[in-house]
Amino acid sequence: VMRQGGTRRNVRILLLGERGVGKTSLILSLVSEEYAEDVPSKAEEITIPADVTPEQVPTHIVDYSAAEQTDDQLGEEIQKAHVICVVYSVEDEDTLDRVASYWLPLIRQSSADNRCPIVLVGNKIDLVDYSTIEAVYPIMKEFSEIESCIECSAKTLQNISEMFYYAQKAVLHPTTPLYNYDTQE
Ligand code: GTP
Repeated sequence: VMRQGGTRRNVRILLLGERGVGKTSLILSLVSEEYAEDVPSKAEEITIPADVTPEQVPTHIVDYSAAEQTDDQLGEEIQKAHVICVVYSVEDEDTLDRVASYWLPLIRQSSADNRCPIVLVGNKIDLVDYSTIEAVYPIMKEFSEIESCIECSAKTLQNISEMFYYAQKAVLHPTTPLYNYDTQE
C-alpha cells in the first residue's frame, strides 16, 4: 500500500485509548482553546478548515467512546483513520500498559495491510512532576508505526496544538516507510 504523503487533500485523525484518559477533553480543548470540566462521553466529529491548520489541509478529528460505540464501529473508524492518536494518562501507568498490550495490537489487526501511523499522547501532565518518556521508548521500539510521542495537558492546554500538528505531520510527512514492517507477530 502506497502512502500519499504530500498529496493528501485532507487528514482524518482518530483518538483512541482507555476510558478517562482525556480523549474528549483534548479535542474540546483544541477547538475551544479552553478546558471544560464537564465533557460529553464522545465529541462530535469536527472539521478544522485548511487555513487554520499548520499544514493547510482540512482536518477531521474523530473521538471514540467505548460507552457509545461497538467493536465493529471501532474497527471501521480505525480503517478510515489516516493517523491515530493513542492517548494514555501520565498519572495512570495501567493506561500506558494498555497502549502496548491492547490498543497498538488492535490497530495493527484492524488496519490489515494498510498500517496506520500513530502518535502516542501522554495526557494530564498538569497532575505529575515526572516524565513518562522513559517508559515510552521501549514501546516505540516495538511498534515502528509510532511516528512521534508527546506529553500534554487538556487542562492547561500545554502542547495541545503541537499534538494535532504532530498528527498532521505523521500523515503528510511520515519519516518511516509504513508499508515496510520489520516486526511481525
Ligand atoms: P471516555 O469517554 O470514557 O473514553 O473518556 P475520555 O478519554 O474521553 O476522557 P474525558 O475527556 O472524558 O476525561 C476524563 C476525565 O479526565 C474528566 O474528568 C476530565 O476532566 C479529566 N481530564 C481530561 N484531561 C485532563 C488533563 O489534562 N488534566 C486533568 N487534570 N484532568 C483531565
